[in-house]
Amino acid sequence: RNGATEPGPTLPAVVGDLGRGINNSIESPSSDWRFNRSLSNIIRKSILKFLDAEKDISVLKGNLKPGDTIHYIFDRESTMNVSETLYQLIPKVSPMKKQHYRQCAIVGNSGILLKSRCGAEIDSHDFVIRCNLAPVEEYRADVGRRTSLVTMNPSVVQRAFQDLASSHWRERFLERLSSLNGSVLWIPSFMAKGGEERVQWASELILRHGINVRTAFPSLRLLHAVRGYWLTNKVPIKRPTTGLLMYTLATRFCEEIHLYGFWPFSLGPNGLPVKYHYYDSLTYEYRAQSSPHSMPVEFRALKRLHSQGALKLHTGECN
Ligand code: CTP
Repeated sequence: RNGATEPGPTLPAVVGDLGRGINNSIESPSSDWRFNRSLSNIIRKSILKFLDAEKDISVLKGNLKPGDTIHYIFDRESTMNVSETLYQLIPKVSPMKKQHYRQCAIVGNSGILLKSRCGAEIDSHDFVIRCNLAPVEEYRADVGRRTSLVTMNPSVVQRAFQDLASSHWRERFLERLSSLNGSVLWIPSFMAKGGEERVQWASELILRHGINVRTAFPSLRLLHAVRGYWLTNKVPIKRPTTGLLMYTLATRFCEEIHLYGFWPFSLGPNGLPVKYHYYDSLTYEYRAQSSPHSMPVEFRALKRLHSQGALKLHTGECN
């Protein structure tokens, strides 16, 4: 397992203390940015000491059986059962097995994407990762529409689809899933309590309507392994965000990684307000103690990796 259960060594000096630095601006203008292939290879190897995305991206049929009881990763005292329906959607083989891509885009959900006109650029990547079933069609000029993998926290079923309470919302949900057209649907169903019913409803709909998606359910150890990697590299995150999880996983199967829609601040680089999400009016207190995440801390680490050429953060308009 690539020594995946052992905590690995810290990153080499070239990466340095990823948690350092407080300025949010992206220093290197696009034209100055150069991909640092050797650093990116070092990071891939270093992450492999903690987790192997090819395996940890999903539990497999062989690991679980219907009726198994699972303790939620973040709410250890609460449990859920693996239903027959959920089991049917667990893959036999990792959806990322032997997959390698030259350029990947990871699309976060910040309002910084609005008016960016980055849609075509995002879609031009070989593999496009999106988060939490964020809508694309009506925003496609800015965010693109191509989707190779999309995540879905169970809470999305409630937040964006009203818990499928009426035929209208079930239709909307089905339409969104159908539009995925064979891509990977990554559902972190074992992380926090409260999602069991939502995962069950979604799974039933997918099966009943023969929706063409490749479902994946992250392994129980993934979150701790990802957190372990960043903490070992002195990035004091709490619970990794979906965006950071996706970057950490993507290092395994992507050469060059480009991030769009990562901007966990209420003001943009130009000092104007930026929405938390490009597609709704939710507000978020980025630095709240009660938040399970530490988005600005994560951002600083990503920004540092950007300035070293290990990844590219896009926060401006596209040409
Ligand atoms: N993100 C960001 N800045 C924002 C909003 C989101 O950098 N203003 C990034 C974060 O990495 C986040 C990802 O985009 O995980 C997807 O956004 P969202 O769906 O809003 O994630 P959340 O629901 O806030 O958080 P979670 O990570 O728990 O899914």
